[in-house]
Amino acid sequence: PESVGILAIELIFPSEYVEQSEMEVYDGVSVGKYTLGLGQARMGFCTDREDINSLCLTVVSKLMERNDIDYASIGHLEVGTETIVDKSKSVKTVLMQLFEGSGNSDIEGVDTTNACYGGTAALFNALSWVESSSWDGRLALVVAGDIAVYKEGNARPTGGAGAVAMLVGPNAPLVIDRGARATYMAHTYDFYKPDLLSEYPTVDGRLSVQCYLGALDRCYQLFCSKSEKLQAKGHEHQQIDLTYLDAVLFHSPYCKLVQKSVARLTLNDFVRTPEEDLPLKYPGLEKFRNVKLEDTYFNRDIENAFMEQSRRIFEEKTKPSLLLSNQVGNMYTACLYGGLVSLLISRDIQELAGKRVGLFSYGSGLSSTMYSLRISSKIGPGSSLHRLIANLSHIKPLLDQRRKAAPEYFSYVMEIREQNHHKAPYTPLASPEVLFPGTWYLDSTDALHRREYKRV
Ligand code: ACO
Repeated sequence: PESVGILAIELIFPSEYVEQSEMEVYDGVSVGKYTLGLGQARMGFCTDREDINSLCLTVVSKLMERNDIDYASIGHLEVGTETIVDKSKSVKTVLMQLFEGSGNSDIEGVDTTNACYGGTAALFNALSWVESSSWDGRLALVVAGDIAVYKEGNARPTGGAGAVAMLVGPNAPLVIDRGARATYMAHTYDFYKPDLLSEYPTVDGRLSVQCYLGALDRCYQLFCSKSEKLQAKGHEHQQIDLTYLDAVLFHSPYCKLVQKSVARLTLNDFVRTPEEDLPLKYPGLEKFRNVKLEDTYFNRDIENAFMEQSRRIFEEKTKPSLLLSNQVGNMYTACLYGGLVSLLISRDIQELAGKRVGLFSYGSGLSSTMYSLRISSKIGPGSSLHRLIANLSHIKPLLDQRRKAAPEYFSYVMEIREQNHHKAPYTPLASPEVLFPGTWYLDSTDALHRREYKRV
């Protein structure tokens, strides 16, 4: 099959949020720490009425309905998540309820987990299936979703929640480039979830930032050299840098780290630039010529210089993709794909046509990949790109229809989740009324931990 990629996307986020400026006051930190220091405006959160199963039920139902997709047309379904409610039973099997009416139970794939990377791993598996000898002509469904919550303290404002569902198949308006995927994997303890009774991760914040930036360096260097080889086929060898990508999307734990990541890529380009081109391309930065990348993760001089140097690139290539991250917060596995949705709803279709998008996926522990996709240049009203984007037009208005909650209520909700996370039998306390129409929610958990869901 040709032009394998993403045919349709659906994204959901919680119907309630807290204002980060109000969280600053409530937490007693300095004004601006969360909003300017982390770059976050609002944080979405789920009550005890929602869990990973309900989020995924909602996002898949909505994708199928909005795009008028037949449940019988799906042959592969995989869920990427790090929000674990069961050590054995996959979220994918819970989603099979949605397929019962169609009689389709011939669907490969289960769940895949490694921190925020699971969505990307699920996407790659879907692409592999479509490109394999097992492919039977049907479509693949990739689901990525998480509830990102932290214990009280400095990581808490970097929470969030959401889910994405993507339909994958041939002749797609968003085609994943072949042969340019660049991966970096390593054994680290920067963020992990060893306590199976708690929803909260064990985090070394500083180490996680260092691991993220280090993985970015490695993936970008490899991505450039692989893309150079691909471009070079039949052509003169040309060095690839950020000009090769029209948009650059990142996993976004918080927006400020993404802006620093763009600076980081510019630093990488700088290091790879031939000596004689430096004065013209990087005036005033020659003094950093001999830096070793691995010594610079927390070097303020370099960070400031390259933040300044890359400001325009950030505004142009990355900022539009941060809308959902800024308004909802970290969605872990869904985050990078929320970035893709943000880009698609922030630019006119004419501006998107034919563009190449770079994507950096990072999951602590750690696994990371940089890859690229190409947006179709066919943009007519009947085109698949037009349809894909039109079916995302509800997202911006929906962000404004959310209910604002007080920080006190958010803290109370976190406490309720904490106390009841593994309780059985359990009936959730929160009212389902605040949920958006069409949302699946947890009705009850019985004494054997079997969860029942209903839909608003
Ligand atoms: N006005 C403006 N900026 C401020 C203010 C203020 N009043 N106060 C602080 N800041 C700035 C700081 O200078 C700092 O900027 P810098 O990043 O340029 O140094 C930033 O706000 C954050 O402040 P810190 O004191 O460094 O933050 P803290 O140590 O409290 O925690 C951290 C930040 C580590 C990100 C924490 O939120 C965390 O652990 N988060 C979860 C881990 C995470 O997301 N890691 C990223 C990759 S892994 C993953 O995706 C889960």
